Amino acid sequence: MTTVLITGANRGIGLELARQYVAEGAEVIACCRTPSSADALKELAAASGNRVRIMQLDVADETSIAALKGQLDDQPIDILINNAGISGLSADRIDAEGWMTTLRVNALGPMLISQALHESLKRSKEKKLVALTSIMGSTSTATGGRYAYRASKAALNNGMRGLSREWACDGILVGLLNPGWVQTEMVSGQTAYISAGECARELIRRIAELTPATSGVFQDYRGVVIRW
Ligand SMILES: NC(=O)c1ccc[n+]([C@@H]2O[C@H](COP(=O)([O-])OP(=O)(O)OC[C@H]3O[C@@H](n4cnc5c(N)ncnc54)[C@H](OP(=O)(O)O)[C@@H]3O)[C@@H](O)[C@H]2O)c1
Repeated sequence: MTTVLITGANRGIGLELARQYVAEGAEVIACCRTPSSADALKELAAASGNRVRIMQLDVADETSIAALKGQLDDQPIDILINNAGISGLSADRIDAEGWMTTLRVNALGPMLISQALHESLKRSKEKKLVALTSIMGSTSTATGGRYAYRASKAALNNGMRGLSREWACDGILVGLLNPGWVQTEMVSGQTAYISAGECARELIRRIAELTPATSGVFQDYRGVVIRW
């Protein structure tokens, strides 16, 4: 059975990915900051026949990442999806704290988690590491605004691109996927053009199609290549 670990799985795109992987028959390790209030995940777990394990993870907290690693004890993870993220809107004012928090959650967190679960990926059959990035991480198409968010996703892109090269010798493939403009709390009040369900369906296809040729390539949810 395929084992998929998803960060920020309690709502938005992460929750939809969890739902659809469960529907495909996968085992899902659904990570979230506050399991006690993750009602949608609990419902999914109850209906899944023991195929959803809800685990606590704050991606900005190294102690929490270490605890997750300890509990998983290097069990094989076929697909690790770094989905958790924040929009960092307040950082438009270029305040130091806002920037550091946005970088910590969106860029450093996925790198630390990938490092912590490297052995789990190596031991799995599929060996796929995925990060949800954003078109806003593209430097060549940057229009200004949302500076901290853009910088965090550009840093994430660079880090994941590096891992795709360095870990290729372990057979690990890296998916660097922009989900599109998706109707979730992150963009509430704006007219996003794709539902979380539709987005998750396409992301799962792209992850299934990953090859050494597309590993470390910046792509959108339809597989269209994005300029760095
Ligand atoms: N929606 C879009 O149009 C869009 C576009 C481009 C990229 N993305 C990217 O797609 C990913 C998912 O976004 P979304 O639209 O589903 O956003 P969302 O609805 O706001 O969900 C964000 C998720 O991340 C979690 N999270 C935030 N900080 C965390 C932390 N420190 N530790 C653990 N989990 C944390 C949230 O958990 P809590 O409930 O605990 O806050 C929530 O589960 C993000 O990386 C985002 O940057 C989204």
